[in-house]
Amino acid sequence: MKYFTPPYPERHKTKPSAIKAILQARQDLLSIWTEDSFRFEFMSQQILKQKIFIANDPRIVKDVFVTKHHIYEKKSPQMQRALEPLLGDGLFISDGDTWTSHRHIQTPLFHTGFVQNYSKIMVNTITEIVDEWANQKSSTVNVLPEMGRLTAEIISRTLFGENLGKEKASKVVKAFADYQSSIKQTPLSSFTDIPNWTDKFSIKSHMAMRAAKRIHAVVDEIIDKASEKENQETLVAHLLAANEDRESETALTREQIRNEIIVLFMAGHETTANSLAWVWYLVSQSPDVEAKLHAELDEVLGDKIPDFSDVSKLPYTRAIFDEGIRLYPPVPILSRQASEDDVIRKKKIPKGSLMLVVPWLLHRHKKLWDQPDTFIPERFLPGAENKPNKFAYVPFSAGPRVCLGKSFGIVESVLSIAIIAQRFRLTLPEGTEVLHECRLTLRPKGNLPMTLEKRDKSTKA
Ligand code: HEM
Repeated sequence: MKYFTPPYPERHKTKPSAIKAILQARQDLLSIWTEDSFRFEFMSQQILKQKIFIANDPRIVKDVFVTKHHIYEKKSPQMQRALEPLLGDGLFISDGDTWTSHRHIQTPLFHTGFVQNYSKIMVNTITEIVDEWANQKSSTVNVLPEMGRLTAEIISRTLFGENLGKEKASKVVKAFADYQSSIKQTPLSSFTDIPNWTDKFSIKSHMAMRAAKRIHAVVDEIIDKASEKENQETLVAHLLAANEDRESETALTREQIRNEIIVLFMAGHETTANSLAWVWYLVSQSPDVEAKLHAELDEVLGDKIPDFSDVSKLPYTRAIFDEGIRLYPPVPILSRQASEDDVIRKKKIPKGSLMLVVPWLLHRHKKLWDQPDTFIPERFLPGAENKPNKFAYVPFSAGPRVCLGKSFGIVESVLSIAIIAQRFRLTLPEGTEVLHECRLTLRPKGNLPMTLEKRDKSTKA
């Protein structure tokens, strides 16, 4: 097998100065790291008034996410500030009793039985999109926006049980993109802690507020429609029903329900879309991997469209996904704020310090992975030697705050890869350079245009 090593940002030989790191972080969070960042276990830096620690060893990651969850459950103030206008007290940025109560009401809605139900929506939506591709005149497809359209449609049908429709879907997706590009979104980029009033007057913040309002308006309209219709098997209907069962003092308000729905919409589509876009890029550069993927699909499925029960029968397809999000974790930095003083590896962690777990570093750590920068799906196959340590691989985070939609996202991705690769090959026009964009999430820069090739009998085994 020949494996592909995608190009990655240059790694510095020496640590850049704090100011240089801030300036660089504002442009690109992946280009600030030194060679040593991929070897060290625990790092610290003082940037102006902010003390920052980076947990880069599975044992410390376990401490932060599990053992000492009570100290590190709070998201960084920068992250909270960036998302609060959009998400309010939504799950993604809340903590304490609010988080516990909101998480508690939603957890059952993501159990296997529910995901199995939602998978029917996934299969229908993916099939519709590949049918559209089959009928379109152009052989080019803009992979990143198309994966965004696919996953936005899936999450919105799951939440609301009706087609969002192209117009509304693109309105919401565009508003999310506008929001992202206009906020001070990176946990490393706001160390200077400029007081909030300056943010309020900046043009960018104004754009973020406008984008947030657009999203609120669409979601409000959809909730109104969802609550009008009875007996719907939608996630929103289940959430509303679970809320009705609560005592009035613990029930979520309408605004809190809206916040949670926006969290699910936000967290539930962009991450998966980015993962899939990276997968198509990686597979297109790895002919041997692509051949193995096709062989698995042909052998297990033939021309049958897969369903939920097939997901566990497609280990190689799953391994491609797992390896894709190892190399390109959609959430490349997880940030927390220490709520009390702590000590780790004999280092004093003062209350208020930022504690970062950086999947971009951890997933490519030289002591934890063999050929860390190379795309090798085989390392995730059942029975593979040197299976990664659970806390060295955290694309969905870990511990009590682990991604609520982890199973949903995995099933959705495996089905998407399988159904698309059954019908098409996606190839990258020669000479295309694929760069990355790293804001709140990590995605390919631009639209990632690729060429569609129908798979005919000769490419099927
Ligand atoms: C490949 C797909 C996905 C990836 C890689 C991913 C990754 C993550 C990560 C890393 C976090 C934790 C962030 C942090 O600690 O700062 C998170 C949280 C979350 N994710 Fe996902 N996610 C994916 C798909 C989904 C889907 C499909 C949904 C919903 C349908 C979802 C809903 C959530 C929610 C609600 C949270 C907040 C959980 C909490 O704080 O209690 N995610 N996700």
